Amino acid sequence: MSFFENISSIQNIIYIFSSILFISGIKMLGKEDTAVRGNFLSALAMFIAVSVTFINVINPLLVLIGITIGAIIGSLIALKVKMTSIPEMVALFNGFGGLATFFIAWSEFNSIPSNNFQYLLVMITTYIGGVTFSGSVIAYGKLSETLKVEKSSIITKLFTTLFYISIIYLLYSIVITKIFTPGFDFYTILLILTLLGGVGFVIPIGGGDMPVVISLLNSFSGIAAAFAGLLLLNNVLIVAGSLVGASGLILTIIMAKAMNRSIGNILFVGYASSSSVSKSEETGEVKPINVSDAYLILENASSVLVIPGYGMAVAQAQHVVRELGELLEANGTEVRYGIHPVAGRMPGHMNVLLAEANVPYDVLVEPEDVNPSMDTVDVAVVIGANDVVNPSATEEPGSPIYGMPIIEVHNARTVFVLKRSMSSGFAGVQNPLFFKENTRMLFGDAKESIGGLVTEFKE
Ligand code: TAP
Repeated sequence: MSFFENISSIQNIIYIFSSILFISGIKMLGKEDTAVRGNFLSALAMFIAVSVTFINVINPLLVLIGITIGAIIGSLIALKVKMTSIPEMVALFNGFGGLATFFIAWSEFNSIPSNNFQYLLVMITTYIGGVTFSGSVIAYGKLSETLKVEKSSIITKLFTTLFYISIIYLLYSIVITKIFTPGFDFYTILLILTLLGGVGFVIPIGGGDMPVVISLLNSFSGIAAAFAGLLLLNNVLIVAGSLVGASGLILTIIMAKAMNRSIGNILFVGYASSSSVSKSEETGEVKPINVSDAYLILENASSVLVIPGYGMAVAQAQHVVRELGELLEANGTEVRYGIHPVAGRMPGHMNVLLAEANVPYDVLVEPEDVNPSMDTVDVAVVIGANDVVNPSATEEPGSPIYGMPIIEVHNARTVFVLKRSMSSGFAGVQNPLFFKENTRMLFGDAKESIGGLVTEFKE
């Protein structure tokens, strides 16, 4: 066995070791108490895999410079990013993963694929990598609201058409150009159409659906990496890419299910019906409450359920919410937190915020655990949540969110809803909860309102 064959066998053994670490790390991410270790293990696996790949690269200095620049930029972005902007950051990182595989495929095309299978891989990797990159850039723009394009605009329609043309051209590139040698540079056209197609894939999708799209693009970046692994015959890239591809897809399905929508509806339809169905305004009398009166009711409650939503993230009220929870407990009240799987704007959004504020995990409950005994809850405190507590989802068959599982706070004895106005939530639908007999609206920024309650308890 030559020296290089020896090196390659050792590399492969270490790759398998890294893959085992990846899988164990991801498994550990599933439980709160092992999540931090799981994250560390996965990062270690990536470090080992990258270091071992280094052994036989042709120009290690160039690669090292690339890694250093990337690591500095990535760390700076990750350190600076606000919690509410994490989905945007994830979108960009996915995009760069896609771009890397796009370049790998391009360079493999230039070194002339040796057989049909490799040729197929080059075309597919180019396409998925390119679509992931340009699609992620658009997703970033939409989520950060720097890009505002109407679904019905000419530009949107133009790019959507280009998306379909790019798919047809991909098929042409795979099938026809393998049989007939085209009299033009078909690959350059594929490169351009792929990037335009990625824009066309994401541009018609509503800004609010971007978290689901980002999760799907995350899956695409993994699939593209797995294909690139096949191209380069790199085992760890195949395993890591497949893990990202599969987990991104599972997450996309979970999100769509929790919103009671199909992936097709999210990608190609959107909340189209919301504008037509639920522009109806008032459906009853609203009963506002002030902080002092809310305090008096809370002080006498023996069980309180806190339901956080997107507004808590916007107000960054998690720390003061934890403080209120502690004061209530000290007053002899049982305090639990009802966490809806799609509350906020990213999976696990509320869990992350509450963990940041050191709220213990054992007081977090899921809708199916708390709904059956909701009538025993004295006060449900809804903090910047709206859609995830909207009874239309269970009571109004015509509603766009009908069928979405909710936290049924309307069945609690008293409900406090903390928000700034009567405006609707993400789905754009009116919430009959605000007009129920047992609901009191505590208007204002969530952090200020909860802060007011904390002050009352302390005085
Ligand atoms: P939403 O329905 O979006 O409602 C958030 C509410 O927070 C708004 O009604 C807003 O009312 C209020 N708010 C905003 N800033 C506030 C502040 N500073 N203080 C107090 N209140 C504030 O949120 P949700 O109940 O968490 O539901 C999440 C929605 O996002 C669902 O429709 C879900 O399907 C969708 N979604 C979620 C995900 C994931 S993975 N989480 C992914 C895609 C889509 P005011 O403006 O009146 O204050």
